[in-house]
Amino acid sequence: SSRPVLFSGMQPSADSLHLGNYLGALTNWVALQDSYESYYCVVDLHAITVAQDPVALRASVRRTAAQYIAAGIDPEKVTLFVQSQVPAHAELAWILSTITGFGEASRMTQFKDKSAKQGADATTVGLFTYPVLMAADILLYGTELVPVGDDQKQHLELTRDLAGRFNSRFGQTFTIPEAFIGKESARIYDLQEPTSKMSKSAATEAGLVKLLDEPSVTAKKFKSAVTDTEREIRFDRQAKPGISNLLGIHSAISGTSVADLEAAYAGRGYGDLKKELAELVVETLAPIRERALELTNDPAELDRVLAAGAEKADARARATLAEVYDRIGF
Ligand code: ADP
Ligand code: NA
Repeated sequence: SSRPVLFSGMQPSADSLHLGNYLGALTNWVALQDSYESYYCVVDLHAITVAQDPVALRASVRRTAAQYIAAGIDPEKVTLFVQSQVPAHAELAWILSTITGFGEASRMTQFKDKSAKQGADATTVGLFTYPVLMAADILLYGTELVPVGDDQKQHLELTRDLAGRFNSRFGQTFTIPEAFIGKESARIYDLQEPTSKMSKSAATEAGLVKLLDEPSVTAKKFKSAVTDTEREIRFDRQAKPGISNLLGIHSAISGTSVADLEAAYAGRGYGDLKKELAELVVETLAPIRERALELTNDPAELDRVLAAGAEKADARARATLAEVYDRIGF
């Protein structure tokens, strides 16, 4: 294929992906799948950098893949696979770890933040080398473009540094990937704490909109969304984070600009916005939820799809790894 290669991955989510994952990542993945040779990965090797229950992990991986497909990822068009099913990821990560500086890895702010929260004894070496595994994920496929959020930019810089370092030490082997800056990707905030981004690690679930929530639960979360004591439906992230988040979600789903939404809601109440947005979100997510549940109810078929994806990924990854091994003298 002559289309540029694009790689992206998400960790398996314990019970459900959320609206931020959908609007911030999955809808972009779907939009890009025709124009790029896309590798979309459920990164379970990354997930075990924090303790996981084996039975729950297996279910999470299937459920996450089911949500990718239900959201519109077409396994016939892309290479959809589970990271642990392609051994080259772990193998290349080891090689790359031997050209990564300890100080360089120590400067990764995500590691510093997470390890500070967990404490040194609960923090694994795997969490420390996580960005090196991410570099392997990307470099195995000759990836040219990586859609990344702000929180991953430093990791992508490390990937580029490692690729360049390997190439200059051992000869041209890796493509240096670029960050993919698509249309300004929607950042979605928690409905109860609209200054924090919606995240699976939210303290409570009241503001976390999950793709697999029942429609009545989704509607209730929107109707209870935190707003403010004014009455004006106006976009202002600083002064009105709750209303701004609702407008942002509406705009991301409906495609209507925030300015047009402000005009349409002029003189109307917060209750109207919440109610109509709840309907819009439910209408969008209900078919995704149903499809995801259907897919998870047939794990054998899902496993077949993922095995086919892993086989495609493995062929490409193995070829890269063989070249790497040759270069370093194995
Ligand atoms: P979480 O923050 O829930 O742990 P991840 O960090 O696993 O989610 O992110 C998976 C993908 O979803 C990434 O591409 C990330 O940019 C996107 N994403 C996660 N949360 C949001 C959000 N609140 N708004 C927009 N995109 C998000
Ligand atoms: Na995160």
